[in-house]
Amino acid sequence: MDKAQQDALKKAAGIEAAKIITSGMTAGLGTGSTVRFLVDELGRRVKDEGLNFTGVTTSRRTQEQAEGYGITIIDIDQADHIDVTIDGADEVDKNFNGIKGGGAALLWEKIVATNSDKIVWIVDESKVVDTIGRFPLPVEVIPFGAGHVIKRFEAKNYKPVLRLDAQGKPVRTDENNYVVDLHLERIDHPYDLAQDLINTVGVVEHGLFLNMVDTVIVGDPNGPRIMHNANK
Ligand code: 5RP
Repeated sequence: MDKAQQDALKKAAGIEAAKIITSGMTAGLGTGSTVRFLVDELGRRVKDEGLNFTGVTTSRRTQEQAEGYGITIIDIDQADHIDVTIDGADEVDKNFNGIKGGGAALLWEKIVATNSDKIVWIVDESKVVDTIGRFPLPVEVIPFGAGHVIKRFEAKNYKPVLRLDAQGKPVRTDENNYVVDLHLERIDHPYDLAQDLINTVGVVEHGLFLNMVDTVIVGDPNGPRIMHNANK
């Protein structure tokens, strides 16, 4: 699949997901290129249909885009509840275990998701996999002592790589932390790995989102397809 085809599937999933949002809702808005299509469509509905909802965003990038469309964005602590959060993902398997954080927003994404009544992911079909892990697993790490965290990961053969920007400087998250990507190729025991990562001092959060999502909208060449998580 080339990028244009992939973008078309992302856009179709984003437009389908935008239908979930109705006036009066508080909605979590994720981060990434698929979510950009979602927010474009929500912006269109605000203008053309008078849609009126409140958003809680998972990154400053999404906040800027949404506010550009006149969507009201509030701080997560001002929201007494979030009806639904719609976000992208990097991989998802049949057990609804996924990897997120390709856009370095995993910490805010997990906080917003954890505080949402429902979670919906929008992905193109290439992201639905048998076993997660081919996509490098992002881990958000405090800069102080990050080198030692990386050495610990190396000793465990997690194949860590500090994420750098185009200038060769460490990428900083919205919380000013680093991202370390683990090139694991496959993750057979995601719950054990999640436990190990979160127990590593210096790790703030990891990109394993295990059985959190309720519904996945998959951009498919035959039209968006829905996967419902029966175990939630
Ligand atoms: C950002 C994320 C994104 O949702 C994920 O990387 C998918 O991005 P895209 O829609 O651009 O493929 O987790 O931290």
